[in-house]
Amino acid sequence: MSNIAIIGGTGLTSIKSLEITRREMVSTPYGEPSGPLTHGMLCGHNVVFLARHGYGHTIPPHDVNYRANIWALKSIGVENILAVAAVGGIREDLVPGKLVIPDQIIDYTWSRGNTFFDRGEGPVKHIDFTWPYCESMRQLAIDAAKQAGLDVSEGGTYAATQGPRLETAAEVTRLEKDGADMVGMTGMPEAALARELELCYASCAVVANRAAGRGDGEITIAEIEENLVSGMQQVEKLLEVLLPTCRI
Ligand code: HPA
Repeated sequence: MSNIAIIGGTGLTSIKSLEITRREMVSTPYGEPSGPLTHGMLCGHNVVFLARHGYGHTIPPHDVNYRANIWALKSIGVENILAVAAVGGIREDLVPGKLVIPDQIIDYTWSRGNTFFDRGEGPVKHIDFTWPYCESMRQLAIDAAKQAGLDVSEGGTYAATQGPRLETAAEVTRLEKDGADMVGMTGMPEAALARELELCYASCAVVANRAAGRGDGEITIAEIEENLVSGMQQVEKLLEVLLPTCRI
């Protein structure tokens, strides 16, 4: 049984070097997860993989059943999650292809199932979210990226926007003024839900494009897809180092 899960985002609907052993459908009180949980071996280690947008990449960011995904992973005994997410780079050094292990979040999303504590079952709970990511998982990811010789930034603030459209240039200026370094659409409520269920959760962001108004001209899907191919190859290298060293 594995206690580490990888949640794959845009560009990572499967892990090439994962030897799949079985697929598990899990029903949850919150509905269906994005797909079956894929159990497998990576570099001799058990892992569980889940494609956040579905295996055919059909579920848009605002429609992902984040609660079902996190609940399903918890229910099978997962304790640690590394979530992979595509982002637009706002900070100057966050250029396409770069990896970032964020350390802060600003949440601009709305109308997503964003808590497990809303059913009136017992007293209201408020999680501490001062540091939204699990520091030990963050460090493992940073160390693995460095050991693999990858270009990684060790921190930054992730702005979670609603999507599915990309931002306007003015919105990115506002995000920057708020202190955001990168922008993506799926980091929340995923991170908060993992904290509510006491899972150790960190994110590996892959810069797919310069955020709106920060690069030359319009952002094209072709550009995003092209950058994510090489970005995800780096994520696979990171995982190949992380799994044998993490002893979790
Ligand atoms: N904005 C929001 N989400 C994204 C972007 C972006 O520019 N690029 C990849 N995911």
